[in-house]
Amino acid sequence: MLQNINPTETQAWKKLSEHAEKMKQVHMKDLFQSDDKRFEKYSLRFNDTLVDYSKNIITEETIELLFKLATECGVKEAVKAMFSGEKINQTEDRSVLHIALRNMGIEPIMVDGEDVMPDVKAALAKMKTFADKVTAGNWKGYSGKSIKYIVNIGIGGSDLGPVMVTEALKSYATFGIKPYFVSNVDGTHLSEVLKEVNAEETLFMIASKTFTTQETMTNAHSAKDWFLANGGTEADVAKHFVALSTNAEAVAAFGIDTANMFEFWDWVGGRYSLWSSIGLSIACTIGYNNFEELLTGAYEMDQHFLNTPLEENIPVTLALIGLWYGNFFGSESEAILPYDQYMHRFAAYFQQGNMESNGKYVDRNGNTVQYQTGPIVWGEPGTNGQHAFYQLIHQGTKLIPCDFLAPAISQNPLGDHHPKLLSNFFAQTEALMNGKTKEEVEAELKAQGKSDEEIAELAPFKVFEGNKPTNSILFKKLTPKVLGSLVAMYEHKIFTQGVIWNIFSFDQWGVELGKVLAKKILPELESQEDVSSHDASTNGLINTYKAMRKG
Ligand code: F6P
Repeated sequence: MLQNINPTETQAWKKLSEHAEKMKQVHMKDLFQSDDKRFEKYSLRFNDTLVDYSKNIITEETIELLFKLATECGVKEAVKAMFSGEKINQTEDRSVLHIALRNMGIEPIMVDGEDVMPDVKAALAKMKTFADKVTAGNWKGYSGKSIKYIVNIGIGGSDLGPVMVTEALKSYATFGIKPYFVSNVDGTHLSEVLKEVNAEETLFMIASKTFTTQETMTNAHSAKDWFLANGGTEADVAKHFVALSTNAEAVAAFGIDTANMFEFWDWVGGRYSLWSSIGLSIACTIGYNNFEELLTGAYEMDQHFLNTPLEENIPVTLALIGLWYGNFFGSESEAILPYDQYMHRFAAYFQQGNMESNGKYVDRNGNTVQYQTGPIVWGEPGTNGQHAFYQLIHQGTKLIPCDFLAPAISQNPLGDHHPKLLSNFFAQTEALMNGKTKEEVEAELKAQGKSDEEIAELAPFKVFEGNKPTNSILFKKLTPKVLGSLVAMYEHKIFTQGVIWNIFSFDQWGVELGKVLAKKILPELESQEDVSSHDASTNGLINTYKAMRKG
């Protein structure tokens, strides 16, 4: 079980609070000037990836105290508890074992006295057989044609992971199979996708851990109706619909043969499920071997996380740095900024990964926490973000720690695009750190021939205080393996922070309320009468909606 420690009552936390007051007066520029080994000291390497965290407002003392905090809060013990299958998702009485899905080792992983690895391997073997058949063109639709389109119907973790990965690894999709993803219950989403495909060459993957999620079930039923209205028959459903789920009963009730069900288990959290059969759309798009590479990359990061001392542990280091700003500098959000167009859904993916995991105000005792927990996570690919929201990061009133990610080698080496892209990547973190002083601005304006009066007028607006923290994550090339490692790195960062914040990172009770309320309102929208059972605003909105539809 996880220990139950209020982080604010540790010695390290108290010292960090005092230390932070000092550090708020420090400029990173000075830290670089006084220590020419700063880059070597504060960067870590993992395979072909470099994690440079030297552009943070930290000193040796900060780092020492942060690692002391991790030790006092039982991070090492918690990592062991997760990897050994303990039921650390206490509120749902479940183990947390996405690491088992990519376990390439030979050690058993036990849940309730049973090794889960044989089932995991069997499920992967089933995925491989199926994906190989689909990618080789040997899985035939009802008219004898091979599969050309995959439509994955799922939401949240049953959508975001496959979307993010198939986009990130698009250049590996060489089998002529195009994936589409339908998540929103807004009929527009499904309708627009169905315009792009035809029934005889399409494979629908109904991806839902529970197989009860309203959005997914509604889309799945409509997709089946469309299939039956566009050439398919009930007997053909088996060739065109598969289920990715833990709920065999509901899958059978929907009308999908359980032989076409790819299973996973309740110890796989939805937002950690891309490694399970939820990844079938990935395997059928980029090929099973590449999917396995993705798992291998994650496994290698898992081993690093499990076996590396805290001080050299990349996910732990990133977790502590995030926590440093959130808990001691009052920052509220973190930006993830990949300088790789293929990674354009990476931030969105970790928006769920992080915010659904650590968006909790109740600690493991059931008490309201007196400190900040999970950050708001957001981001867009560079350089687009530069022309949209970087202004606020540079000169706004909010402190936003940023992760910059980039590949050294482009998969599309077009002219000088990549050096230009990377010059922005390097320039931004440098500018965020250094800023621009009043003296520099004045000299620049003078060189432009401005008068003293003009300089005095303009200078305040052109000064950047700098001292904005960033991590730079530079990897050789975006391969399936590298992507697997990066995703696992962020997963374990989230885990480490949840452990220190003394919260349960693997449940999501907050999402349930909206689901329950929507179910209550649906029949009210269908009735003819005005409603009066809600607050005045909700009644007013519902009744206006009904009136609009009548008129
Ligand atoms: O958004 C809440 C949630 O429970 C997520 O955790 C999950 O990824 C998503 O709904 C979809 O759930 P399911 O896979 O059961 O359809």
